[in-house]
Amino acid sequence: MITFLFVLILFVASPVMCVFQRLYCSIADNCDCDFKANIRDLEWDLFKNVFGQHLAQEVVSEEVSRFLQNKSPDRPLVLSFHGSSGTGKTLISSMVANHLYGSAMSSPYIHQFIPTLHFPSAQHVPHYREELKKWVQGNLTQCARSVFIFDEMEKMPLGLIDVLEPLLGPSYVVFSTNYRKAIYIFISTTGEEVINKVTLENRQSGGEREDINLLELEDGIALEVYNSNTSGFFHSTIVHQKLITRFVPFLPLSRCHVARCTHLQLLQRGVFNRRDVVDAVAAEMIYSPVQGRFFSTTGCKAVPAKINLHL
Ligand SMILES: *[C@@H]1O[C@H](CO)[C@@H](O)[C@H](O)[C@H]1NC(C)=O
Ligand SMILES: *[C@@H]1O[C@H](CO)[C@@H](O)[C@H](O)[C@H]1NC(C)=O
Repeated sequence: MITFLFVLILFVASPVMCVFQRLYCSIADNCDCDFKANIRDLEWDLFKNVFGQHLAQEVVSEEVSRFLQNKSPDRPLVLSFHGSSGTGKTLISSMVANHLYGSAMSSPYIHQFIPTLHFPSAQHVPHYREELKKWVQGNLTQCARSVFIFDEMEKMPLGLIDVLEPLLGPSYVVFSTNYRKAIYIFISTTGEEVINKVTLENRQSGGEREDINLLELEDGIALEVYNSNTSGFFHSTIVHQKLITRFVPFLPLSRCHVARCTHLQLLQRGVFNRRDVVDAVAAEMIYSPVQGRFFSTTGCKAVPAKINLHL
């Protein structure tokens, strides 16, 4: 009899518990959803394993830690990464994801959108808009701390991303789900001309790379993003209303950075003392401009493939 009662209570109570937990989650936004942010590890990873990107390192670690320390942020964190291919944009976005969820990109709370895959056809924008909004809202209902990464923004069909505008602003609360704890990262090459020009001028004038400051770059990137019809944000209200927390520039990488990328990759593969491979890989990259050959045109992108050829 007692056993029966016990089972009965369990049976009745468990759905109730479940409802309670969901209610608690949506009110407190405190469901753990595997969220194990480790800011110290993120900072360490950023400063140790990213080369030549003092601005991105600073801005990302500063903004992410500030955002996570705030128990009730008044708006989501929206970062937009800009720079040439191979400069570390994807690397840093996966570091952020890694150190927030401890499980790399495979976490169910990290959502990556790739336009050519998810939104391939410009004719279906109205449909994609509905879908994207539904996904993001659904994901946020499950976990307020979700991370959304939009890769290759330059391939995003015109007029699609603006559907997220209400979610990026300061006070959007629907069904008691708090939308303001989410992190959005947009990635594109838009603005690379601005960034590369400033970096080149710095180099030609014999300045320190670390003297390049954010103020020189942010406005230029924002303008380019707003005015370019291949930025994903062409005349976008998201940019116009300043809903992007920070534009993060990634500088072009020089030969010494390529060498450091190669060295790190070798270490990660357990290969030591192969200065010959490091030199060979760095020597095989193409550097621009013709005058000076300062910067690798593909950053560190081709490094793993080139290492394979030399091992
Ligand atoms: C969350 O987003 C993914 C796309 O990344 C989508 O497939 C999934 O249906 C969404 N989940 C919910 C509950 O809407
Ligand atoms: C984008 O802008 C360029 C000029 O900057 C123009 O030639 C092109 O037709 C535009 N593309 C679209 C899809 O509007």
